[in-house]
Amino acid sequence: MKHLISAGDLGRDDALLILDTAEELARVSERSIKKLPTLRGRTVVNLFFEDSTRTRISFEAAAKRLSADVINFSAKGSSVSKGESLKDTALTLEAMGADAVVIRHSASGAPHRLATWVRGSVVNAGDGTHEHPTQALLDAFSMRRRMGRLEGLKVAVVGDVLHSRVARSNVLLLSTLGAEVTLVAPPTLLPVAVENWPCQVSYDLDAVLPKSDVVMMLRVQLERQNAAFFPSAREYSRRYGLDRQRFAKLHDDAIVMHPGPMNRGMEISAEVADSPRSTIVEQVGNGVTVRMAVLYLLLGGAIGGEVK
Ligand code: CP
Repeated sequence: MKHLISAGDLGRDDALLILDTAEELARVSERSIKKLPTLRGRTVVNLFFEDSTRTRISFEAAAKRLSADVINFSAKGSSVSKGESLKDTALTLEAMGADAVVIRHSASGAPHRLATWVRGSVVNAGDGTHEHPTQALLDAFSMRRRMGRLEGLKVAVVGDVLHSRVARSNVLLLSTLGAEVTLVAPPTLLPVAVENWPCQVSYDLDAVLPKSDVVMMLRVQLERQNAAFFPSAREYSRRYGLDRQRFAKLHDDAIVMHPGPMNRGMEISAEVADSPRSTIVEQVGNGVTVRMAVLYLLLGGAIGGEVK
């Protein structure tokens, strides 16, 4: 495999190879080896047309830890504001010698288009409401580290599924890896085609919590809601927010996740977000390791093929 555009493109063996490689890389950094020479002489371009904190910085850190040269491009302050197209921007960056282009874009499908224009590998760092495959990989890695397995794990993904690229990528990846996913959301925040997704659906968070090993809270994407957002923020929080009372319904070993950024006090209370059973900060650290594994395997041609 040359590109990573959708979690759905990853077979079980490829997904496990990425998680196992990330595990090996984590062991290397635990031995205080901060930098590996693996991608010396290669160039990774971070092409961000939408805001990001975790994904952009962790891809940069991942590439640098593998000794790659990194070019960071942000649409703000670039010639995109003068009307330059995605294609011309991509070709300009490729002329500077990109071996991999990591792209975040507000348009679903932008990474797929980009892959037809550039010679290097394309990694989807979030496209519109479509997919965010490396987030799903780091989530699976974090779950496996905390819970010791993915097979048979009961995962509730809660909240604004309609606008969430994280939810779709997690459903696709976790089902491939044998976890049982239940999406929990008000009907207004579920996509019409959800019945075709490989997961269960529920509107009742209180009923799902006691049966869950992992609860992944999603950010309510207020910037993508239309004026008729229903339920209201207060009603949403009352029925779908994870506060202390709801947290108490979980079994003692269950964990709480959130991809960030969070709306504290809306989908998750500060007390739950900061509890020892929350993996939110761990997920960020794991993001660097998993993205190192993705860059290493894609640029080495090892996903879907032989390790070179
Ligand atoms: N989880 C995630 O994608 O966060 P950023 O938007 O900060 O990259």
